[in-house]
Amino acid sequence: MTAAHTITVNLGDRSYPIVIGAGLLNGGFDLSKFVNGPDCLIVSNEIVAPLYRDRILPNLAGKAVTTIDLPDGESYKSVASLQAVIDRLVESGANRDTTVIALGGGVVGDIAGFAAACYMRGVAFIQVPTTLLAQVDASVGGKTGVNHPEGKNLIGAFHQPQVVMIDTDTLKSLPDRELKAGLAEVIKYGVICDVEFFAWLEDNMQALLEKEPPALARAIQRSCELKATVVAEDEHESGHRVILNFGHTFGHAIENCQGYGEWLHGEAVATGMIMAAELSGIGDGDVERLRVLLQKAGLPVSPPAIDGQDWLRTMGMDKKVKQKQLRFVLLRALGDAYLATSYDKDKLQQIIGASD
Ligand code: NAD
Ligand code: GLY
Repeated sequence: MTAAHTITVNLGDRSYPIVIGAGLLNGGFDLSKFVNGPDCLIVSNEIVAPLYRDRILPNLAGKAVTTIDLPDGESYKSVASLQAVIDRLVESGANRDTTVIALGGGVVGDIAGFAAACYMRGVAFIQVPTTLLAQVDASVGGKTGVNHPEGKNLIGAFHQPQVVMIDTDTLKSLPDRELKAGLAEVIKYGVICDVEFFAWLEDNMQALLEKEPPALARAIQRSCELKATVVAEDEHESGHRVILNFGHTFGHAIENCQGYGEWLHGEAVATGMIMAAELSGIGDGDVERLRVLLQKAGLPVSPPAIDGQDWLRTMGMDKKVKQKQLRFVLLRALGDAYLATSYDKDKLQQIIGASD
């Protein structure tokens, strides 16, 4: 096991550590000290549980453990899965001092976190993310929830974890397509708030694709630092946190129009970032730099065929919509994102029209 690196998400009495290291499972990090009561429920899925559930048990010495494995995939990030987790909590006699542990990717983390937010009006939870995307984004910041057929993440709550434990060794079993999807969110941090990190990604993309441990560790640490800083400033997204949604207005529309699961979330966000960069009106050279980096990461940069009306209908369900008006996170330059109060409507028609 290598030395773990800890980043704190500073939220007053809801502050928590993100612990990052290779080999933290198998007892490498004592999770039981974050389980205040006598018992916990591990929420995982049919892919991750056989790989890692036995390995997390030594981290929970002395605690009674019950489990539930959900079906795999974004299409199961649903009210039905939430109900299944709540049912399991009830069946197992869980109380207010039970802790819910999410072991898996962002889908498992979002569902488990939301179940923890709802059960008995809120019980503690722990994130053990096992995809790159969940390690750099979904497990940090307390957004939890499930999809509605009409819109992504429409049902949810803010509920911060007690700790995020990131064992980077879990990425060894992650399929390449999923790794690339996670790289989309890593690139997002460079684009929205750290142009030096963006340049580092340009130089180190091959090492990341080859899962070289030092490169992955640096990318995960920097992403978590940036996310922790933004979340600490604006936990409930009343302002600056919205920049973390760069590319997501278009991306969520792609996911929804395709019926969750065809394009991965990170793939939809990658294309959404190009569309948002084009709408921003930054220099062509900067849009091209982003396109080249996303392509280097093996990510799609052109949207699938979607009718213009479908774009507008699904983007209309975006959580940034105010007074029925669409609002977009745009760029002033690479590394400098903001929530725009207006945008070029003709340009938007051109961008979504090109995908008909
Ligand atoms: P995912 O949870 O579907 O995981 C991707 C796939 O990898 C799944 O098949 C999963 O079973 C498998 N898997 C997970 N870990 C593995 C491992 N170590 N080895 C082998 N296979 C493994 O998808 P994701 O990309 O992790 O997360 C996407 C979800 O996260 C979306 O629903 C998105 O909306 C959400 N999200 C939430 C936030 C947030 O702030 N809460 C932020 C970003 C994304
Ligand atoms: N993934 C966007 C956020 O956490 O705010």
